[in-house]
Amino acid sequence: MKPKLLFEASVTGSNNFRLPPLDVPDENIIPAELMREAEPPLPDLPENEVVRHFTNLSRKAYGVDNGFYPLGSCTMKYNPKINEWAARLPGFAAIHPLQSEASCQGALQLMYHLEQMLCEVTGMDRFTLQPAAGAQGELTGALLMRAYHAKRGEHQRNKMIVPDSAHGTNPATASMAGFQVVEVKSNERGLVDVDSLRAVMSDEVAGIMLTNPNTLGLFETDIEEIAQIVHENGGLLYYDGANLNGMLGVARPGDMGFDIVHLNLHKTFSTPHGGGGPGSGVVGVKKELEPFLPVPVVAKDESGYYLDTDRPDSIGRMLAFHGNFGVLVRAYTYLLTLGGEGLREVGENAVLNANYLRTLLREHYEIPFDRLCKHEFIATPGDLKAKHGVTTLDIAKRLLDYGYHPPTIYFPLIVGEALMIEPTETETRERLDNFATAMAAIAQEAKTQPDLLTEAPHQMPIHRVDEVGAARKPILRYRA
Ligand SMILES: Cc1ncc(COP(=O)(O)O)c(C=O)c1O
Repeated sequence: MKPKLLFEASVTGSNNFRLPPLDVPDENIIPAELMREAEPPLPDLPENEVVRHFTNLSRKAYGVDNGFYPLGSCTMKYNPKINEWAARLPGFAAIHPLQSEASCQGALQLMYHLEQMLCEVTGMDRFTLQPAAGAQGELTGALLMRAYHAKRGEHQRNKMIVPDSAHGTNPATASMAGFQVVEVKSNERGLVDVDSLRAVMSDEVAGIMLTNPNTLGLFETDIEEIAQIVHENGGLLYYDGANLNGMLGVARPGDMGFDIVHLNLHKTFSTPHGGGGPGSGVVGVKKELEPFLPVPVVAKDESGYYLDTDRPDSIGRMLAFHGNFGVLVRAYTYLLTLGGEGLREVGENAVLNANYLRTLLREHYEIPFDRLCKHEFIATPGDLKAKHGVTTLDIAKRLLDYGYHPPTIYFPLIVGEALMIEPTETETRERLDNFATAMAAIAQEAKTQPDLLTEAPHQMPIHRVDEVGAARKPILRYRA
């Protein structure tokens, strides 16, 4: 049943709150022209009804804590609750960014050690923990590239190469940072076409933004050659580390030739995310780029940890303070809990789960790149669309009726009707089997009762919503 809005549940005169008597002079506090003439039309309900309303709404919300969430590229892994315990410790939760350094040595120590751990995990030399999301990490990285080339007097480097499989934030970031985006095509294997890359290289190229594994879930096997081509031409390699999960403890972007890396701590290092935050897009660099990192960085001398702002070549601040500190605490806790071996298990199991699911689904769906994948893979409806008119959107909507959050759909753009499936390492074999059974049942329904899919979802409080309309013309105010 469609949930009532709070305004619709309102019963005039039913609330029973009492305001304390006015304890300030009641004359001329608010200028007459700003005074309300009538009471605002707010919902009228007793407290228990308000609590019930929001509790019931929260039960309708879907998250990784109540179900499988194979949202490709988003790494919706389980978020261990020990992270929440650590982030809520009063010494972390109640500090203020303007406190003296002497009074928050523990927090600075955590940031210092986290930076060292991230260097170890990625093969980079230094990190900034400031950026508040992956996309802001990308912007930081692009600005670092610009500062690096400018320092060397190479102001003509105004082009950024971005493969056609890239996440949309990559070209958007590059152009926000003032670069002209040059697209390189993928080859028939779903990888960067090395000859096309060579053809666009020039002394105007600042660098390339690449994610490895790419958004098809495929490892860029030519990465060393790509790095060589870009470096020989004076460019830099930027690693979009949002897809690092399947690489953890196994391969490091720093060893592949990347100069700048962003990680999505909120995904790979397990902070609950979605719905807009909180995030952390920390950025790692190789030594040559260190002078340009945002200020401040955490440093240490004989008297303890401190925030170093004396960095003349810095690109400046990317955020008012020091990053989303709560996410840093969670990432630190996660890394300490797992240790090196545990981290490698994460990477291996993420890859194992994705490949297991890929082989279960290949009987029922088309798998355009049906070979060993990393953290995720792409499926499409194939004949289900060609012969029965069922689209990816219909399949995603029908999955809701089976109690699953659908995969990412219609991305990456280079595969038509894509379903991008990332199970993550934290799912059991039984869970993957059940999901595959639901997907198989939906494929069967598509052949025999396609209306079940084209009119889905049937079990949700709200049926098919106009998603484009919701994004383009959002209704942000209640009107009776
Ligand atoms: C491959 C890739 N790059 C970059 C981003 C951007 O990260 P954020 O959403 O934290 O800005 C994402 C997010 O989904 C992503 O999947």
